[in-house]
Amino acid sequence: MHKVDFEMVEMTLDVMKYAIGRITHPSPELGKPKKETELKALVGETITEAGIGGEKAFQLFKDVLVKATVPIDHPRHLAFVPASPTRAAVMFDLVTSASSIHGAYWMEGAGGIFCENEAMKWLVSLTGMPKGAFGVFTSGGTAANLSAMVTARENWRKNPKHQNEKGLIITSSGAHSSVKSMAKVIDCDVLLVETEEEMTAVALQEKITSLDPQQRHRLFAVVGTGGTTNAGIIDDLSGIAAICEQENLWFHVDAAYGGGALASTSSKHLFNGIERADSITIDPHKWLFSPYDCGAILYKNPELAKEAHAQEGSYLDIFKDEGAHGFNPSDYQIQLTRRVRGLPLWFSLAMHGTDKYAWAVDKGIELANLAGKLIQEHPLVELVREPSLSCVLFRRKGWSPSDYTNWTYKNHREGFALVTPTKYKKDGVYETVARFCFINPDTKEEDITMILASMEA
Ligand SMILES: Cc1ncc(COP(=O)(O)O)c(C=O)c1O
Repeated sequence: MHKVDFEMVEMTLDVMKYAIGRITHPSPELGKPKKETELKALVGETITEAGIGGEKAFQLFKDVLVKATVPIDHPRHLAFVPASPTRAAVMFDLVTSASSIHGAYWMEGAGGIFCENEAMKWLVSLTGMPKGAFGVFTSGGTAANLSAMVTARENWRKNPKHQNEKGLIITSSGAHSSVKSMAKVIDCDVLLVETEEEMTAVALQEKITSLDPQQRHRLFAVVGTGGTTNAGIIDDLSGIAAICEQENLWFHVDAAYGGGALASTSSKHLFNGIERADSITIDPHKWLFSPYDCGAILYKNPELAKEAHAQEGSYLDIFKDEGAHGFNPSDYQIQLTRRVRGLPLWFSLAMHGTDKYAWAVDKGIELANLAGKLIQEHPLVELVREPSLSCVLFRRKGWSPSDYTNWTYKNHREGFALVTPTKYKKDGVYETVARFCFINPDTKEEDITMILASMEA
């Protein structure tokens, strides 16, 4: 298994050939899921005592299994939050794996962690956070939000009066589900500012004022959103920052999706106030063109994260020794052993430069505005709200929820597009609508017009 032999060389060449073929293909086949029983019938037993051989296993993967997956970078994959890793980042993901670097501690991973930190400095600079702010790459936005919430809660619990209290956070109904589910992980309560649009400072202040003294005592953080997943809405970050400063609350901004737009020239100003956050989540695997998985958590004061997350253990004591000193990413988030998952972003940034990132992010915003215009010109569809960041919500006149579902399945079944419906609440009533989220700068105007045409039937 660990020998270098002819079979291993052949397998390596096959893998490289596949990787090159895949990344140079402009529009990969839009695969669709099959039932597990169907896949099993097609590939048979793959894990056997003697092994089926690399050639056969790879053939099954190429011929059957990968076809039951959706390529996230397909130009007409506009559902959820798609992705579009740069070719450079994808290739460097292979290099990251091949290099077998342990990304937890500087002692083992210095060269790789150095690269991650260079990319992190750029991310921090985009936010405008003060000197001393820094962060680490995580497995995604959920892990980043959790890392921030643990840090905030541990910081709050330093006050002896809070030590036996269950914490409470306030966020908005538009916040991502991971905020609410990570609150369960840390066993804290969540109160929601109910709104389908941005969380305003006024609404937040009203919520805080409505708390009873015990709730106010338990409140330790506010989570604002820098680009809701559903509609790309950005909360009033500077207004929320001012309240958090005044009320002595931790201010976390979940910009997992929208944070990429901090690189944009046209939309950066929408995030004014983010620089006053105590912590920020940004997912490079969403709108900064990194392969999965790559999230990031940034802290105004990383020492607080270290106090909350640094792990202790006799076998880890060496890392405290003078000879092993350096930046240890594991001290700042929930994970110990970790891939140097910021490396592909670093390589792609180093290769292309930050201007190209600004261009590619702006392209997503341009595509959303273009889609808005095409929708307004089309007789059968209409905008539900103005496009925001790279999200567009629109309705097909006369359609019921099941029409949207059938349309989604039909487009997917035909390998044409993946565009899914969502819900939008207006005047207290939820309506099923269609949604685009643009990330891939290679999506063309014709892709949008063809998708709109598919709603004509
Ligand atoms: C705003 C926001 N926060 C958090 C997440 C969760 O991120 P991940 O799926 O990388 O864990 C998402 C995912 O779409 C998101 O859009």
